[in-house]
Amino acid sequence: MKNIVITGVSGGLGRCLAEEYLSEGCQVFGFDINEDDICNYLQNDNFSFGIMDITDDISVKDNAQKLFGKIGHIDILINCAGILPKNSEKRLEDFEVSGALEVFNTNALGPLRVTKQLLKLVKNSEAGVIVNISSEAGSLQAHADYVIRYDYCMSKAALNMQSIILQRYLEEDEIRVLAVHPGWMQTRMGGQEAPLKPSDSAKQIKRLITHHQYDYHNRVLMDYNDKIRPW
Ligand SMILES: NC(=O)c1ccc[n+]([C@@H]2O[C@H](COP(=O)([O-])OP(=O)(O)OC[C@H]3O[C@@H](n4cnc5c(N)ncnc54)[C@H](OP(=O)(O)O)[C@@H]3O)[C@@H](O)[C@H]2O)c1
Repeated sequence: MKNIVITGVSGGLGRCLAEEYLSEGCQVFGFDINEDDICNYLQNDNFSFGIMDITDDISVKDNAQKLFGKIGHIDILINCAGILPKNSEKRLEDFEVSGALEVFNTNALGPLRVTKQLLKLVKNSEAGVIVNISSEAGSLQAHADYVIRYDYCMSKAALNMQSIILQRYLEEDEIRVLAVHPGWMQTRMGGQEAPLKPSDSAKQIKRLITHHQYDYHNRVLMDYNDKIRPW
């Protein structure tokens, strides 16, 4: 049975990804900073949930140790948790710069913390995949024209850089590392005016993870439709 780990599983995209993999008969280990209603929503024997704050070394390490006690490998690790606080929406004159630390700690360092602690389990898989849910907001060349969201955009650019380094670092282990823009989705973060349902994005991301023709030497950022995006 495939083991899938998803952070931010109580959120819009995270729970849809969990549903997708559960519908395939996979075992899903979901983590989030809040339980929310996820355990009522996903009542499935193959789903287990843990409270994990990806900004906290100890929380990540404790949860990783528990996973080591339960399973011998992780086939797909999806770093999906992320934040876009109200402070990010402020113009520079009103923006609290120190507020950006939390955004960096969550969106850029959080995935690195989780990957570091779970890497051994991913290496134990026959075909391990690490997926960093990024954003077009982190593309330097094809940036979404924001004049706000300094911290969010900068944190996703840092996540993209992290993905490039990991792609290179894990090439010899034949672990695929994907950095994916999920589209503008109707979630708490994306708002209701967004054009894309998170369930549709999740379906496409699962397809991408399964079928993407991965070239270990061609390090790419792509969107949920398997379209390559400029870094
Ligand atoms: N929605 C979009 O249009 C869009 C576009 C591009 C990229 N993305 C990316 O897609 C991913 C999923 O976003 P979403 O739209 O599904 O947002 P969402 O509904 O807000 O889900 C994000 C989840 O991450 C959790 N989280 C926040 N901080 C955490 C922490 N320190 N530790 C563990 N979990 C934490 C959130 O919990 P709380 O709600 O309790 O904070 C929430 O459950 C994010 O990485 C986001 O940057 C989204």
